[in-house]
Amino acid sequence: MPTLHVVVGSTRPGRLALPIAQWAAQAAEQHGGFDVQLVDLAEFGLPLLDEPAHPRTGQYAHEHTRAWSATVDEADAFVFVTPEYNFGPPAALLNAISYLHREWLCKPAAFVSYGGVAAGLRSVQVLKQVLTTLKVMPIPEGVAIPFVFQLVQDGSFQPTPPLEAAATDMLDELLRWTEPLQLLRKGLVPAQ
Ligand SMILES: Cc1cc2nc3c(=O)[nH]c(=O)nc-3n(C[C@H](O)[C@H](O)[C@H](O)COP(=O)(O)O)c2cc1C
Repeated sequence: MPTLHVVVGSTRPGRLALPIAQWAAQAAEQHGGFDVQLVDLAEFGLPLLDEPAHPRTGQYAHEHTRAWSATVDEADAFVFVTPEYNFGPPAALLNAISYLHREWLCKPAAFVSYGGVAAGLRSVQVLKQVLTTLKVMPIPEGVAIPFVFQLVQDGSFQPTPPLEAAATDMLDELLRWTEPLQLLRKGLVPAQ
């Protein structure tokens, strides 16, 4: 089974990203198409990018980078769980993406976003632009959660039925992209 990383995109103490990512990971487990791992950026403690070499070289001077590289390497697909900060992605998430290169290539990604009226979608649009530079294939199906504060009670995310349905659609489509991109990474699809 392909490995799916559900990435907790906020590292802030008290972040809503964690309960929302826990829900997304549970939905992915119930979906049944993936081996699911919750990947919490806060556990990696990445400083602002401090590698002297370009990530494309894969030459990593620091243990935190090697640990992050080994983790992302294992993924066949991603669900990025992200808020928007000032209409963009959290700096911690952009920083974590910048650390690596080869580890991201030719893998599909979906997004669970949240916020006020805009449901974090402005952050997703920026992430899509950045991730395509790393040949990540962002899919349009996703979960966009408006007025998120109304749906978190006692540290637990309580999804509405439309959000649950959106998660299923997202995971179905993400799985559909996962196997062809695995073949592409193995060199089994001829280059154009
Ligand atoms: C620095 C900062 C900027 C924010 N900017 C936005 C924003 O542009 N749009 C929005 O809907 N919410 C914004 N918010 C509110 C967040 O949606 C809310 O704080 C949410 O809980 C952040 O996600 P997190 O708890 O996982 O870190 C912002 C919050 C912070 C801390």
